Amino acid sequence: MLKGRHLIDPMDFSIDEFEEIFNLAEEIISNPEEYMHVCEGKLLATLFYEPSTRTRFSFEAAMLRLGGKVLGFSEPNSSSAAKGESVADTIRTVACYADIAVMRHPKEGAPKVASMYSTIPVINAGDGGHHHPTQTLTDLLTIKSIKKGLGNHTIGLCGDLKFGRTVHSLIKALSRYENNKFILISPQELKIPDYIKKEVLQKNNISFLEVERMEEVIDKLDILYMTRVQRERFFNEEDYIRLKDSYILDEAKLKKAKEDMIVLHPLPRVNEIAYEIDKDSRARYFDQAKYGMYVRMALIAKLLGVK
Ligand code: NCD
Repeated sequence: MLKGRHLIDPMDFSIDEFEEIFNLAEEIISNPEEYMHVCEGKLLATLFYEPSTRTRFSFEAAMLRLGGKVLGFSEPNSSSAAKGESVADTIRTVACYADIAVMRHPKEGAPKVASMYSTIPVINAGDGGHHHPTQTLTDLLTIKSIKKGLGNHTIGLCGDLKFGRTVHSLIKALSRYENNKFILISPQELKIPDYIKKEVLQKNNISFLEVERMEEVIDKLDILYMTRVQRERFFNEEDYIRLKDSYILDEAKLKKAKEDMIVLHPLPRVNEIAYEIDKDSRARYFDQAKYGMYVRMALIAKLLGVK
């Protein structure tokens, strides 16, 4: 039963519950007009303490397409956070007005705190360099739809694996499906955190390899998940400048990849995928953004317990 639940960590839901959400998303994709009114009279609050395009817009579009309404803030200076209000008090207030809330926050754990004080479902839309479970739902629905299944893949994750919350959540979630292998491509300084390696990969005996060069491994991949170097999480600008262009996927590199490999990216892209790649049939990141809206429609409907 998903009604009334929070989604803070990708492991909060079982794989059967994920499946329930994907099934509904697929149904909505096939028959959107049947879902146009299911959230009538319901309000979604978006509490964004950090910048966002896709996540916030796709949540808002999702609620509007379900017939509900949205309210919220897209930067904390326009809310009482600027006066020093705590997340606990903000959510208790928002819960008086809305039926479901989505929160993005630079501090790891902030949406978790909110969920502990909330009487309405709270969805984590990204907490610092920690987790981003609804991007993971997006990524999984994309992979499931295009690659016909969530197991038996060799997944290359490339870029900022240290601060990239989408990567942390995706590894956790994909580790639950059969026979997935991970190739972790990053500079030394941006390697995957030890806790993911120990508590997720090693603990579950999942095969993984850490490399620095994309060219060495690109021919082995079924999925290449590119990420942006997370400038806002760096302690100094010099390190960011030195590392920001560590990987640039271009036509020459893509030539070596399998014909049916797919390139995903949570977006926004900065430099890490050359624009020339966009016309390649393997580039699926804008499809991915679209799946994100449908999967959020399904998530909202399930957490609100409508239809
Ligand atoms: C990601 C995020 O916010 O973590 N963006 C998104 O939600 N699609 C990735 C990023 O900002 O690099």
